[in-house]
Amino acid sequence: MDSLPSTTPDFWNSRYLSNQTPWDFGGVPADLKAYLKTHPRGGRVLIPGCGSGYEIKAFIDAGYTVTALDLSSVAIDRARQFVGPDSAPNIFAGDFFQHDFGATQFDVIYERTFICALLPEQRNAYRDRIAALLKYRGALLGYFYYQTPDLQAGPPFGFAWGTADELFARYFLLVKDIPVADSLPLFAGHERWQERHRTSFETAAKSDLK
Ligand SMILES: C[S@@+](CC[C@H](N)C(=O)[O-])C[C@H]1O[C@@H](n2cnc3c(N)ncnc32)[C@H](O)[C@@H]1O
Repeated sequence: MDSLPSTTPDFWNSRYLSNQTPWDFGGVPADLKAYLKTHPRGGRVLIPGCGSGYEIKAFIDAGYTVTALDLSSVAIDRARQFVGPDSAPNIFAGDFFQHDFGATQFDVIYERTFICALLPEQRNAYRDRIAALLKYRGALLGYFYYQTPDLQAGPPFGFAWGTADELFARYFLLVKDIPVADSLPLFAGHERWQERHRTSFETAAKSDLK
């Protein structure tokens, strides 16, 4: 199983089935709890790569309408069980890059250890899809992992300092960036809670300004 590429469902299914899930928080991390206390405004939330789905319930309890998906059907079974039958229909097994979201645009997209689970060469596609799925002034928020990338060792694949800013600058404005106090050992000292707002236009990336 370990020789499977991390872009396949079975790579992730095998980890969930064997409980090799060092990323699994087992609950709702503190910065998200704080965000939900101060932003009880409802709206539509997307959680891509939702894993076991603890945050799905937290957003629902705070009044949001949640759509979540994960490549791993094992994770999705767990998430559906965790949130209960009322919300289970909005939780999909599927590929974030292929899933048909219809015309839906979201107010919030929540990120935790999803982009670092992707290959670094998938980051532009992630950024573009997130930008297309968010409303103007919508927020991409959550946990981002910064670590000198070791392409042999991932996932997780961390961002080198500066590369996330350059990646997201095209469509987003960074409005909050703080260190995370309750990281799991896998991410400790390298995780930031960040909030980025969708701008109304495409800002030229630095790499385009030659
Ligand atoms: C490191 S885990 C994080 C899970 C969850 N966000 C958490 O914080 O516990 C990465 C998750 O992304 C999922 N994943 C990887 N590639 C995906 C894709 N293309 N579309 C949807 N989910 C994907 C994996 O199945 C896995 O559950």
